[in-house]
Amino acid sequence: MNAVTASAPGKFVIMGEHAVVYGKPAIALAINRRFTVVVRKSKDFRINGERGNLSLNPHVRHIYEKNGSVPVSISMESAIPPGSGLGSSAALSVAVSAAMRAVNGGSLDSESIAKEAFDAEFSAQGRGSPMDTSASAHGMGIALNVPGCREHLWNIEKNGRSWDVCDVAVPKMSFVLGCTGIRAATGPLVEKVRKYKDRNRFASDIVDEIGTITLEGMEALNRNDPVRLGSLMTYDHKLLSILGVSCNELNKLVDAALPYSYGAKLTGAGGGGCMVALTDRPAEVADIIRSRGGAPYIVSTREEGVRVENIN
Ligand code: PMV
Repeated sequence: MNAVTASAPGKFVIMGEHAVVYGKPAIALAINRRFTVVVRKSKDFRINGERGNLSLNPHVRHIYEKNGSVPVSISMESAIPPGSGLGSSAALSVAVSAAMRAVNGGSLDSESIAKEAFDAEFSAQGRGSPMDTSASAHGMGIALNVPGCREHLWNIEKNGRSWDVCDVAVPKMSFVLGCTGIRAATGPLVEKVRKYKDRNRFASDIVDEIGTITLEGMEALNRNDPVRLGSLMTYDHKLLSILGVSCNELNKLVDAALPYSYGAKLTGAGGGGCMVALTDRPAEVADIIRSRGGAPYIVSTREEGVRVENIN
C-alpha cells in the first residue's frame, strides 16, 4: 500500500447551537463540500510537501500519535470554507483519522472515527460538543440530546459530560449558505453566552426556548414540513440574536434572504461565519446574498459521511 485517500464532509447547524452546550438538543446536516486528504508512508512527517511541524497541527498530531506515529506525508485539499462554522477543522480530523487507520490496518467504523476525531478537536481546541465530528463521520444528519430518537448512533463522554448522537432522516430540502467572510472563534462566543446566562435568568429562559423549538424543528424535519421548519429557524435566529451571538453582517444576510426563503438564521457559533436559508428559490437567494456582500454556497444535503476513496 502506497497511499490512502479519504474524505469527509462539512456541516451546518440547522437548529440548537449554543443551547447544545447546556445539554439541549441540536441538529446538524452534512453538506456536499468535503475535506480530502491523501496519506502516504514517508521517511519523515510532511504536510502538503513541506516538512510538517506537528505542534502547529495539534489535532493531526493527536490522531498521528494515536495511530502508531509511523512517519507519513499528508496532502490536504478542502472545498469547505475555513473558519466559517462549517466544520472544516472537524472534517480534516475525521478524514485524517480514516486515512491513518487505513494506513495502519485499523478499524474504519464511523463511531471509532467520530470519537477519535472529537478527542483530537477537544485536545486541540477544548471544543464544547462533538456535533461537528459526529456529523462529518456519519454524514446525512445527526441530532444530539434528542430524547427517544429514531436511531441511536453512539454516545460520547468527556470530562463527566455525555452526548447521545442520533441519526436524522434528512428530507430533500434546499439550503443556501451565506458567509460573511468574518472569522469568529467559537470559544469566546460560547463564553459570552455562558456569562450572560450565569448573570441573567432571562438568558437561561432563552436557552431553554431554543431547546424547545429545536425539538419542534426535529418534528418538522421528520414530517418534511419546510414551512414550519423555516419559521422555527427564523425564530431561532431571533433568540440567538438576543443571546448576543449575531452581528450586523449576519442580520443583513438573513434579512436579505427571508423574502425568498421559508426561513433563515445564523449557523454555528455566530459573530461572523455564515447564515443558512431554507428555500426553494436557491438561485435568487444566492444572488441577493452576493449583492449584500456575502459569499453564497448552494448546498445539497443527504451527503455521505467519511469514506476511504482509494487505497493503492
Ligand atoms: O462553530 P461551529 O459551527 O462548529 O458551532 C459551534 C456550535 C456551538 O454550539 C456554539 C458550540 C458547540 O461546540 O456546540
